[in-house]
Amino acid sequence: MATRTQSRSTSNRSSSRSSGNSGGSRSAFSWGEGAGPIIAAALGGAAIGFAANYGRKALMQGMEAAVGDWDEILAAEHDMSLAIFDKMLATDQTQTFKRKMLLMKLTHALDKHSHQEEMVVYPALREANDAADADHLESEHGYIKTFIFELNEMGPDSSTWLDKVRDFRKLVAEHAHMEEEQVFPKFKREMDEEQNAHITSLVNRDGFWMA
Ligand SMILES: [Fe+2]
Ligand SMILES: [Fe+2]
Repeated sequence: MATRTQSRSTSNRSSSRSSGNSGGSRSAFSWGEGAGPIIAAALGGAAIGFAANYGRKALMQGMEAAVGDWDEILAAEHDMSLAIFDKMLATDQTQTFKRKMLLMKLTHALDKHSHQEEMVVYPALREANDAADADHLESEHGYIKTFIFELNEMGPDSSTWLDKVRDFRKLVAEHAHMEEEQVFPKFKREMDEEQNAHITSLVNRDGFWMA
């Protein structure tokens, strides 16, 4: 578990296919009359859906790029997650729909964030001879997933839901603190500007596909 005990407030920084039958001898265009417009409409809908999703991803990537270096991107995501926790803690037992929605939002945010760290930052840390910190932090990600599992299992109307969320927030705050104050600054200092820019581009790329 986290080696740091400090919990942070959230006010310290202003801060997401289809297959075709191309192998058959029958052309798609031999289908009965009237199918064409339906197919075209379906394809058009898919294209619009793809464009919308792509636009959302591009927007999120643009937001991240505007934040700065990899460590600043990850710190901003910590704050976003802690802010969701605070909204969860402000709910009562009757607000089951709101609790479910906030837990889904938190799950997505933490999933994207941990993917960026587990696929880029922690492997880079191991390459830089800091496997101990990388292994410690990655094991904590396992406990973060465990909290999400437990909250889903207990349901949003549980009398101990807030206690569980409080313990969960504490773990994430301590984990984020260790990354922001200890591991990431040390790692950043060890790299030159080009290496830092490389890690930033990898974090942005991974976050783009996970958004
Ligand atoms: Fe982490
Ligand atoms: Fe993190």
